[in-house]
Amino acid sequence: MNELSLIYNRHSVRKFTNDPIPTEHIKEIIKAATYAPSGKNVQNWHFVVITDKNKIEEIAQIVEKKNAQLAEQLTDENMKKNFTKFVRFSTLFRKAPVLILVYAGPYTPTGLDVLQQINASNEEIHTLLRPNPAIQNIGAAVQNLMLAATQMGYGTCWMTSSNYAAKEIESFVGFEKEGYFLSLLTPLGVPDGELKSPSRKPIEEIMTII
Ligand SMILES: Cc1cc2nc3c(=O)[nH]c(=O)nc-3n(C[C@H](O)[C@H](O)[C@H](O)COP(=O)(O)O)c2cc1C
Repeated sequence: MNELSLIYNRHSVRKFTNDPIPTEHIKEIIKAATYAPSGKNVQNWHFVVITDKNKIEEIAQIVEKKNAQLAEQLTDENMKKNFTKFVRFSTLFRKAPVLILVYAGPYTPTGLDVLQQINASNEEIHTLLRPNPAIQNIGAAVQNLMLAATQMGYGTCWMTSSNYAAKEIESFVGFEKEGYFLSLLTPLGVPDGELKSPSRKPIEEIMTII
């Protein structure tokens, strides 16, 4: 199964060297992301690439500030301690040479207009919306991005743990496109140190053949 080695060699990378990344490489990685499948080929993604180290640091500080503001309102001391402690996992991108913010745009699931037209129940509409194809498109693109980065010798880390500061990050970055919102971010850089991933659930647990 050597041909699948790219998949098995991708790891979440949380430490990076200071090596810069040529713009051509960044473009190649983003291009690979756009070759992911998307429902009705809507390509409802937008990638905001930040290469300014100061801006990356400022985004980390925005997350820290929001973390502190939220923690302050907690009365449960244990929850407060944990939330505060884990802020470093929400800001681990700060030392990377590049930060990619992934924005998600709208996508209307097939059948939604029909259900609305026939006054379908909220439950039926909820069942249609629950698989969230808009975000499935984003997931496909991000996985492509990460595999391309791996192939080119770079590391990434899918991050949603800073999303509680998404509004503040969005307004700092200033990127606007109708209906688009920040869905995740990933650092991009040359990995520093050994790479490994946690183990996976056994196939028998996660696969059912009928
Ligand atoms: C939707 C999603 C959100 C994630 N958010 C974070 C995050 O905020 N911080 C982090 O360090 N890793 C995050 N990860 C990475 C996972 O922890 C990682 O993929 C998982 O532990 C498996 O490790 P591997 O990527 O090395 O195979 C996220 C991954 C996904 C798919």
